Amino acid sequence: MLSGKNIVLGVSGGIAAYKAVEIVSRLKKAGATVYVIMTEAAAKFVTPLTFREISGQPVVASMWDEPKQWNVEHVALASRADLFLIAPATANVIGKMANGIADDMLSTTVMATRAPVVLAPAMNTNMYLNPIVQANLHKLQSLGYHVIEPACGLLACGVEGPGRLPEPAEIADYVATILNSVQDFKGRKFIITAGGTREPIDPVRYIGNRSSGKMGYALAKMAAKRGAHVVLVSGPTELPCPPGDVRLVKIERAAEMREIVLKEYRDADVVIKAAAVADYRPQQTAEQKIKKTGDTLTLVLEKNPDILKELGQLKQRQILVGFAAETEELVANAAQKLAAKNLDMIVANDVTLPGAGFNADTNIVKILASDGKVDELPQMSKEQVASVILDKIYGLLSKKC
Ligand code: PMT
Repeated sequence: MLSGKNIVLGVSGGIAAYKAVEIVSRLKKAGATVYVIMTEAAAKFVTPLTFREISGQPVVASMWDEPKQWNVEHVALASRADLFLIAPATANVIGKMANGIADDMLSTTVMATRAPVVLAPAMNTNMYLNPIVQANLHKLQSLGYHVIEPACGLLACGVEGPGRLPEPAEIADYVATILNSVQDFKGRKFIITAGGTREPIDPVRYIGNRSSGKMGYALAKMAAKRGAHVVLVSGPTELPCPPGDVRLVKIERAAEMREIVLKEYRDADVVIKAAAVADYRPQQTAEQKIKKTGDTLTLVLEKNPDILKELGQLKQRQILVGFAAETEELVANAAQKLAAKNLDMIVANDVTLPGAGFNADTNIVKILASDGKVDELPQMSKEQVASVILDKIYGLLSKKC
C-alpha cells in the first residue's frame, strides 16, 4: 500500500514518543521506507537504537553527529521525503515551525521539505488548549500543514481531555490516505455539514437528534482524499477530524451553522448538507436550569431558517447536494425537497431501515438528480456511499467547465 514511499518521521520529546515505535513498524509493514529524526528530548524517552532497529535505517538525533553509514544531510533527506510526519509533535516543535525557527535537525529538515507535512500533536490538555498553541496550529493549517486532532482521554500527567496521541494504526491510516489519493478535486472547495444541531432549552438541556456525523465525516474524508479543500461544519460528535485538507468548524445551533456556511459559500464549488438540522428551536432559552414544577411543561418553538433553501436561492455556480432523512414516501418527499431548495442532487435515506441512516456504519440511499433520474444503491459502507456521491458531483463539475 505504501511501497516505494519514503516517509520521514520526526519524533519530538514527549512521553508519547514510545508510540512512534509502533508507527514506524506499521508504516514499514505497509511497504514504506521510514527515516527517523529525533529531537534531543525525544532521545531521552526512547533510544535512537530502538528506532534504528525497527526502521532498519540510521537515525539522526543531532545536527552535529558525524554521518556514519548514512551520508545524507538535512536537505537531501527533506527532498527524499514523500511525506513528513511528526509524531508526537510537542508544543515546542509546533511553536518553532509556526514561527520559522530552525535550530535542530528536525526543525531544519521540515523547513526544507516540499513534501506534505502531517503533525500529530500530543501534550498535556492545558498546553494543547493554550491559545498560543492553538494559534500556531491554525497558522500551520492555513499554510497547508495537516494536523491530526489528538484523542481525548486520561493523559500520562493524570489530566483528562484532548492531548493524547491517536493510536498508531490511525496515524498510519491517515498517512496512507494522503499518500494514496487520486487528486480529481484538487483546487475545489467543498463545504460539508455533518452531525446534528442542538437547540438549547436551558443551560443543561437541548433539542437534538440522533445524527452521529458518520455520513458527513465519510464525505469529508473521501473528498479530501481526492484533493478537495473541505470546510467541515459539524455538530457535536466524538469523531476525529478526517485526514487531509479539512478545516473542522464545530457548531452547536442551526444559527451557528448558517452563519459559517453563508460565510464560506461565495467561493465554494460544492456544498453537501448531510447534517440533520433542527427545524425548530425554543423561542426562549432559559438562563437558569428550568425547575421541575407542574405535571406538564410547555415549550414554545419557533422556526429555524432553512439553510439549504437559502443557499439554493443564492446559488450561482455552486453544486448543491442535500440529504433527506425520511420515514415514509422516500422518493416523493425527497423530490419535493430537491425542487423546493433548488438542488442539483438529493440523497434520500429511509431512516427506518436497519443498516441505514442515523448512527449506522452503512447506509442505503436513493440518489435523485435534478433531471429526474433516480439511482438506487444497495447497502454500502458510508465511505462507499460517499464515493458514489462524489463521483456524481465530479460529473456535474466537469459539465460546468
Ligand atoms: O450522521 P449520521 O448518524 O451518519 O446519519 C446520517 C443522516 C441520517 C443524518 C444523513 O444521512 C441525513 O439524512 N441527513 C439529512 C437529515 C435531515 O435533516 O434531512 P431533512 O429532510 O430534515 O433536511 C433536508 C436537507 O435540508 C438536509 O440536507 C438538511 O441538512 C437541510 N436543512 C434542513 C433544515 C434546515 N433548517 N436547514 C437545512 O439546511
